[in-house]
Amino acid sequence: MTECALQKYLARGSCRFLPLLLLALVVTVSAFLNYLNIRSHADQMALHYAEGLSQLLLSTRTWNAEHGGVYVPITDKDQPNPYLQIPHRDPVSEEGLRLTMINPAYMTRQIGEIARRQTGLVIHIFSRQPLNPLNAADPWELASLDHLEQGGKSWRLTLQHNPEGSVFRYMIPLQVEESCLTCHTRDGYQVGELRGGISLTFPADPHFAILRSQKMMMFFGHFLGFLVVGAVLTLLLNHLRQQWRAMEKVLSEQEKTIAQRTLKLERSNAELRDFAQIASHDLQEPLRTIVSFGNRLLLKHSAQLDDKGRDYLERIEKAATRMGHLIQDLLNYSRVASQEQRLTPVNLNELLSEVLDDLEQRRKECGGRVEIDPLGSVNGDRNLLHRLFLNLIGNALKFHRQGVRPLVRVSRTELDDGRVQILVEDNGIGFDEKYLDRIFRPFQRLHLRGQYPGTGMGLAICKKIVENHHGELYARSQPGEGTTFIMVLPL
Ligand code: HEC
Repeated sequence: MTECALQKYLARGSCRFLPLLLLALVVTVSAFLNYLNIRSHADQMALHYAEGLSQLLLSTRTWNAEHGGVYVPITDKDQPNPYLQIPHRDPVSEEGLRLTMINPAYMTRQIGEIARRQTGLVIHIFSRQPLNPLNAADPWELASLDHLEQGGKSWRLTLQHNPEGSVFRYMIPLQVEESCLTCHTRDGYQVGELRGGISLTFPADPHFAILRSQKMMMFFGHFLGFLVVGAVLTLLLNHLRQQWRAMEKVLSEQEKTIAQRTLKLERSNAELRDFAQIASHDLQEPLRTIVSFGNRLLLKHSAQLDDKGRDYLERIEKAATRMGHLIQDLLNYSRVASQEQRLTPVNLNELLSEVLDDLEQRRKECGGRVEIDPLGSVNGDRNLLHRLFLNLIGNALKFHRQGVRPLVRVSRTELDDGRVQILVEDNGIGFDEKYLDRIFRPFQRLHLRGQYPGTGMGLAICKKIVENHHGELYARSQPGEGTTFIMVLPL
């Protein structure tokens, strides 16, 4: 089927761009899949980055919490935290240095400020009911809290497209530890509880920039691949198409020549047939005249002739009779050759018993025996098959060896290719196989006329009949050892 489609494609030359289109489709799909793959790399890189940061942030917070807060000198930047309500918040050192306590949330904010300055990373600590209004959650932070509280397991990494540029947002959940309770017991914190989180917000562009060059390379590679493969494909198909056209031209020319020759052959065959028929017809007329006047001469005027004259006359008559037979056989031959066959199943055993009836006289004369195996039936023309077997068995009886009782056997074997093989074997005089070609040719005789009567047309007619049945007829023989005629017929 594909072969057929290809043939049509090559022959028609339409849909020329179909292969290129298909190629383009494949390349596009491949590029798209690659693009998705690179995209997911971007997300993964951002995730790794955020996870690393969150580890570090949580560690610093735990460090601070485990110290129950950390003291730093009070400066413009590091002012006491009004929301931190504990005793000894702002102690004075022995040297008179005024200190204040930095709680984890305060520290996180300060680290966040440094990070924002240096890398554009925004760190925001939040909760649902913040002590410090600065820690109020924005909608995304609330949503991610909801998500975690409802049992969502995944850390949320989101790509947000803001007017100032795309950012990744990542949420770090804050779980209450033992160390948190130093300050948060009052707020009702309990160990293991989710109290809020820290959100990381960082620009997505640097991540995408790294991947952009990868994408460019990938698209460029695909495009280049498409160009190269497309060019090769086009060249190849054009070449193939040209070859195909050339081949088709040669084929159609050949077909034309064959058709012309067949027509010529049919015409000359028909002419030959007509010629043979007309010729034999027309020849019979003068022949009859010769015979009848010869007869009259013999009957009425034989007294006037001497013995020599009568002998000449008898010879003329014999020759004329033989010529009559020859003409009749020629006519038969050309009829067999031109006849349209109507093939019907023919029971061969029935047919052969009729043939044997016809040959009864000859069989008795030579004391011969004919054995016939079960032969089944074949598809054929009854009359022609009758003539065929009449000729073959008749020949077998005729060409018997002196002093040997003729024995003829007709048998059947099935061939592997589904055809039937019918053998007519005899124990007659046989012939040298170098004459094999000759015996099937019209008017060919291997023996003197006086020895064995006949026109030499019998086997030629047989061969024609078998060929008309789309079969083959050939023979095997050894001089003095009998002959086997083998006919192979389709079933
Ligand atoms: C040294 C005291 C102290 C310790 C220890 C401490 N916190 Fe806080 N925390 C505070 C104070 C004070 C605030 C509010 C003021 C602020 O934003 O700095 C706060 C704010 C928060 C907030 C922001 C929400 C809000 O109410 O404003 C969260 C969440 C939080 N703390 C969680 C924790 C967790 C979890 C721990 C344990 C790892 C912890 N804290 C340890 C003092 C502390």
